[in-house]
Amino acid sequence: MIACASVTKREIRRHYDLATPFYRLLWGPHIHHGVWDADAPPLQAQRQLIDRLASEASISAGEDVLDVGCGMGGSSIELAKRYGCRVTGLTLSPVQRAWARTSAVWQGAARRTRFLCGDAENVVLPDASFNIVWNVECSEHLFDKPAFFRRAAAWLRPGGRVALCAWLAGDGTDSDGLAAAVCENFLCPSLGTAGEYRGWLEAAGLRMRTYEELTRQVERTWEICLNRVRRSRVGLIAPLTGRPMTRFLNHFTTLLNAYRTGAMRYGLFVAEKAAR
Ligand SMILES: C[S@@+](CC[C@H](N)C(=O)[O-])C[C@H]1O[C@@H](n2cnc3c(N)ncnc32)[C@H](O)[C@@H]1O
Repeated sequence: MIACASVTKREIRRHYDLATPFYRLLWGPHIHHGVWDADAPPLQAQRQLIDRLASEASISAGEDVLDVGCGMGGSSIELAKRYGCRVTGLTLSPVQRAWARTSAVWQGAARRTRFLCGDAENVVLPDASFNIVWNVECSEHLFDKPAFFRRAAAWLRPGGRVALCAWLAGDGTDSDGLAAAVCENFLCPSLGTAGEYRGWLEAAGLRMRTYEELTRQVERTWEICLNRVRRSRVGLIAPLTGRPMTRFLNHFTTLLNAYRTGAMRYGLFVAEKAAR
C-alpha cells in the first residue's frame, strides 16, 4: 500500500465543493475514467465503464443501490434511468449533493433517486438494506479501507454485491515516487494493491466474483484531459479555487506515467455476500 499522511478529510470535502464545476466543464457529468475498446467519445467511454461494472455485478431492475461517493450523481442517475434501480447517492460534498439532486430532477430520475451528504466512513445506514454497494473511484479517498468494506458488507442483503472500480498501487516498489505523488496531489490517503483490495473484501466476509485489470483500457482518459486543459482556460482560473486544484491539474502527466510504468493500475472488482 502507498500512503500519504498529509491528506485530510476536510481537504477532500473542500476539493469536491470547489472543483465540481471544473470536472463538469472538463470531463462531463461523471467523475471517473472511461473504458475504451475502440474509438469512442469520452461520454460513451464513461458509460462503457458503468455498463461493464453493472454487467459484472449482474445489476437488475428494482434493485436498491447505494452509490458511495456519488459525485454529481452520474452513476446514480444512469442506474435509475437505464437499469431501473432505486438509488441512494452518498457524497462528502454538500455542493455535489445539491448538484446531483438537481440533475436527477432535470433528467426525470427524481422518483428513483435520493442523495445524502455524509461520510461513508461513519454514516449510519440500516443493515441489509441494499442489493448493491456501488463504489466508483471513491475508495481511494477513504482512510480505513478494510473498515469500509466491513460496513459495506453489513449494508448488503444476502446475495448482494459490492461493485467497485479503484485506482490501485502497482505490485512493485514505487521507485520513482509516482504513486506517492498521485496520492498527495489527488488527495488519496492511500492506494491499495489489487491483492490488498481482494484481501479486504474477503476479510469482510464477501466472496470475490470478478477482478479485471483495465489500466490499458482507461489510460486514454488522462491523455484527453491533458489536451483539454492545455487547449482551454481551465488552468488559468483553477488557482482561484486554491492550491489543491492547481496541483491536481498539474499532475495529470504523473498519473499517466504511473499507469504506463506499472507504478499504478486500475481495477474493477465485484464481491458477493452469501445468499443466506
Ligand atoms: C472521483 S469522485 C467519483 C464520483 C462518482 N463516483 C463518479 O463516478 O462520478 C470521488 C467521490 O467520492 C466522494 N467522497 C470522498 N470521500 C468520501 C467519503 N468519506 N464519504 C463519502 N463520499 C466521499 C467525493 O465527494 C466524490 O463525490
